[in-house]
Amino acid sequence: VLIFNTGLDGSEGVVNGTLGEPGVTTLPVVGLSYRAGVELLDAQEVSVTAETVSETRTTYNVLAETGTGDPANTVMVGAHLDGAPEGPGINDNGTGSAGILAIAEAMAKTKTENNVRFAWWGAEELGLLGAEHYVYDLAENDPAALEDIALYLNFDMIGSPNYGRFVYDGDGSAFGPDVSAEAPEGSGAIEAAFHEYFGSVGLASGETEFSGRSDYGPFIEVGIPAGGLFTGAEGVKTEEQAALFGGEAGQAYDSCYHTACDSIGNVSVQGLGEMSDAAAAVVLRYAMSTHDVNGEGEPYR
Ligand code: PHE
Ligand code: ZN
Ligand code: ZN
Ligand code: ZN
Repeated sequence: VLIFNTGLDGSEGVVNGTLGEPGVTTLPVVGLSYRAGVELLDAQEVSVTAETVSETRTTYNVLAETGTGDPANTVMVGAHLDGAPEGPGINDNGTGSAGILAIAEAMAKTKTENNVRFAWWGAEELGLLGAEHYVYDLAENDPAALEDIALYLNFDMIGSPNYGRFVYDGDGSAFGPDVSAEAPEGSGAIEAAFHEYFGSVGLASGETEFSGRSDYGPFIEVGIPAGGLFTGAEGVKTEEQAALFGGEAGQAYDSCYHTACDSIGNVSVQGLGEMSDAAAAVVLRYAMSTHDVNGEGEPYR
């Protein structure tokens, strides 16, 4: 599986590792050859001279689904495929993109109760444009299809070099009502599902603001329960977190956040492995039953 961070433009910037339109494209390229979300096999780095241009571009969301399982109970899983223009965008968000691709591949070998739809969003870095388009377009033109989405799971930055195992605070327990009060019912159950998984493998998990600062924003805006994982960006790791997760207190989770050094070396393979395993476990759980999110009170079996 070859993953390319396609910069701001999923269509013209990069096709099979070759650059289109040299001198116009501002998209740095790094290819990751990747297996099962955990093992880096090799890497190929291509330097591109960035040129500041202002132009209108078309961007794309890439969508794929199991096509089997209950379509009226669709589980959506997403990660943004674009990167900030300042760098190659490997931790942000080659990690999430690769992680969900590995899950999609594995999912192809199983039969799920619910339809599972994967989204690789475009233009997140320009203001959640791809996810907003998807959600608001359905809201306007196909509200029944929006109703069919039981929940949304988001993976943005899941391999930070000085990582924390953060779960979005969907129940408002950690960050207060100003941030989390708007979270749709069901988001708390999703948060609990992630903590439960981490507990089951003996790994400590923490919480991060459910602020809307990634592609789940438009989903919670229209009332769809959501959740996801995050390993930290420009924020600084505390002593307490270093005790829980390891790594270095007093240092940023990702000191290369949105810079040129967010390149092939800027990933904790250990962290990415732990987080993608958690992602896979929770995606599979909801692929089999969304009862806790639907408030039907039935335990996961
Ligand atoms: N959405 C941010 C980005 O892609 C990542 C992020 C999310 C950073 C939440 C901080 C808090 O750059
Ligand atoms: Zn970013
Ligand atoms: Zn991101
Ligand atoms: Zn919480």
